[in-house]
Amino acid sequence: MINLQNIQISSVTKKLLTGLTGLSLVMFLVAHLIGNLTLFAGPEVFNAYAQFLHHFMHGMFIRLAEFGLLSFFIIHIWSAVSVSMSKRKARPSRYAVEGNAGGKSKKSLHSLNMIISGCIILLFVLVHLNHFKYADHEAVGTMTLADGTEVQNVYRLVVGSFQGNFGYVLFYMLAMGVLCSHLMHGVWSAVQSLGFTRPTTIPYLHMAGMVIAIALAVGFFLLPILIFMMRGTFDPNAMPDPVHHASLLLNRLMLG
Ligand code: HEM
Repeated sequence: MINLQNIQISSVTKKLLTGLTGLSLVMFLVAHLIGNLTLFAGPEVFNAYAQFLHHFMHGMFIRLAEFGLLSFFIIHIWSAVSVSMSKRKARPSRYAVEGNAGGKSKKSLHSLNMIISGCIILLFVLVHLNHFKYADHEAVGTMTLADGTEVQNVYRLVVGSFQGNFGYVLFYMLAMGVLCSHLMHGVWSAVQSLGFTRPTTIPYLHMAGMVIAIALAVGFFLLPILIFMMRGTFDPNAMPDPVHHASLLLNRLMLG
């Protein structure tokens, strides 16, 4: 039998895993942002897109994607935390002054805050999934597309959530700020771990990492704020309220 405790995974492998899974999650974010932009094309297009995702390859695609995403999340968190813990073990006495190394190592305030920002992003994803993915399906309702197909009205859920409660919009804006900080250091660090460290390409790759981080955060940040500003284009009385949804969940958890 294989004894898992005997399997030693080197720090280099863990860094490689952190980088690979991190970049895969960034690719998911790019696809997710592009998909979410169809919100601006109206309920017909967005709901048809959501319906397509759920039924593509008889539902196999979404199941595989979800399995991949969950595995990447778990591996990413495990490898990142364990590399950071072994670094701390190797340096038991903390420096009297924790400085910003800067320079070649690109060690900055961002790198010191990676674990904290990662935890905040994890919390955001849990709230996000609870509200959008595991929403109260009866409250979401359905819509009939032009071709007569009856689909879940995910558009109503998303637009309604952002138009119905500014606190929720604010929560997204803050979370996107944290995501930006995490990605600004993370994308570059992943590229380095994968060995793209030629002196001539370093400045370009560093810049590319920053651009990707800012573009994603700004894109996700703009969605809720623009939807909020466009209120009045949708019937606010028929909207599911995220705060109500969260209190329902709390009740369910506490009362069993
Ligand atoms: C304003 C921005 C966003 C909007 C409007 C949005 C919207 C949605 C919606 C509607 C779903 C459910 C899809 C469905 O099951 O039909 C979803 C799923 C998901 N979202 Fe977002 N999202 C946003 C930002 C983000 C961000 C920044 C992250 C990660 C940091 C994220 C991670 C996820 C994940 C992991 C899923 C589950 C995917 C799956 O299992 O199929 N989302 N999002």
